[in-house]
Amino acid sequence: MMPFPAGQHILLGITGGVAAYKSADLVRRLSSQGAEIQVVMTEAAKAFISPLTLQALSGRPVRDTLLDTEAESGMGHIDLGRWADTLLVAPASADFIAKLAGGLASDLLTTVCLATAAPVVIAPAMNQAMWLKPATQRNIQTLAADGVHLIGPDSGEQACGDIGPGRMLETWDIISELESLNVKKSLAGIKVTVTAGPTWEALDPVRGLSNHSSGKMGYAVAEAALKAGAEVNLISGPTTLSPPRDVVLHHVRSADEMLNAVKRVATDCDIFIGVAAVADYRPSQIEMSKIKKDAKHVTLELIRNPDILSWVTSQETKPFTVGFAAETDNPLEHARQKLEKKSLDIIAVNHVSADHSPFGSDENQLVVITPDEDIDLGRHPKTRLASTLIDTISKKFHESYKT
Ligand code: CTP
Repeated sequence: MMPFPAGQHILLGITGGVAAYKSADLVRRLSSQGAEIQVVMTEAAKAFISPLTLQALSGRPVRDTLLDTEAESGMGHIDLGRWADTLLVAPASADFIAKLAGGLASDLLTTVCLATAAPVVIAPAMNQAMWLKPATQRNIQTLAADGVHLIGPDSGEQACGDIGPGRMLETWDIISELESLNVKKSLAGIKVTVTAGPTWEALDPVRGLSNHSSGKMGYAVAEAALKAGAEVNLISGPTTLSPPRDVVLHHVRSADEMLNAVKRVATDCDIFIGVAAVADYRPSQIEMSKIKKDAKHVTLELIRNPDILSWVTSQETKPFTVGFAAETDNPLEHARQKLEKKSLDIIAVNHVSADHSPFGSDENQLVVITPDEDIDLGRHPKTRLASTLIDTISKKFHESYKT
């Protein structure tokens, strides 16, 4: 399963139904994925689950009253609607669905649904006969036409003993559906260029200098950017990986070829992310024929490769630029020096040690360094880390336009 975008504000509406017991688990799991949760309950929901439980799990007092002067002077229903990146109602009862389809604003939850510009996602839960009734089906069609996202219901044995459709989806299925709906497209319309993999610096037609980079991290970053809604150009050195669907892939071998591809696409991009392990040096000359082992000693002369990131940041209209650094000693200090030297907006650093090398592994550990702060993203599978990294980049990118 892909991770849920970290830091996303989810307003979780809970309405009356036995499935409300699953909402506690939903709050816990979404929070552990890094989402911030504000619970809003209807009166009927409180008969099934205690607000205190949800307050403890979400870390925020539950909101349940529309006409609460104290609450309205703080975060009122309009502010709640603005705060939410996504409004998820789980379980959504037949009564709530009817009210939403009718555009009612009769309690706090229906009012916030009406007031918000955020996507509204509902996970219905009710008896199978109620679900199948024409009135409910009509309401569901109205909501779908209004742009409300429907997840579930599941079919099977119900709490009342009936068998049929109407059961709320299980927690992980809800989280997974939310993820695939990709309701938070933080990079919609943004052009992102990612470099990935190693470079290959030829010595002769059969030999060359390269490194251990597998390209996995760069490909995961490209995929996470795609999921966040970006248009992605992926400039890749030699790897054995299949590219994510929908990226524009540019195959290159050497650092020089990578730079040329970057020159073609990066001038028209908003965010540039250099994940590639670019060779710093290349042989000063490439032999046209295979080097024979006649000589006892061979001396290789290497010359410096161009620095791709520095070329990107030296452009007049430079994109928001993110570098990567793999360091063995004083990783944070060295990464900070690279951030400044290459005029980057962000550098993501991993500490390479004898015990932990990111090369070829499915896991990685990253600290993100910006001119203002260090953010430890922890050690995770590369796909999950890439998604958290893209969330951080997206946040900083959008902030850079506000200042
Ligand atoms: N990079 C680049 N062009 C190069 C070398 C590196 O764009 N010729 C980029 C990498 O894609 C990475 C960042 O620079 O985003 C840092 O790479 P790294 O190899 O850690 O740093 P170097 O600048 O090569 O410094 P050093 O090898 O001395 O640590």
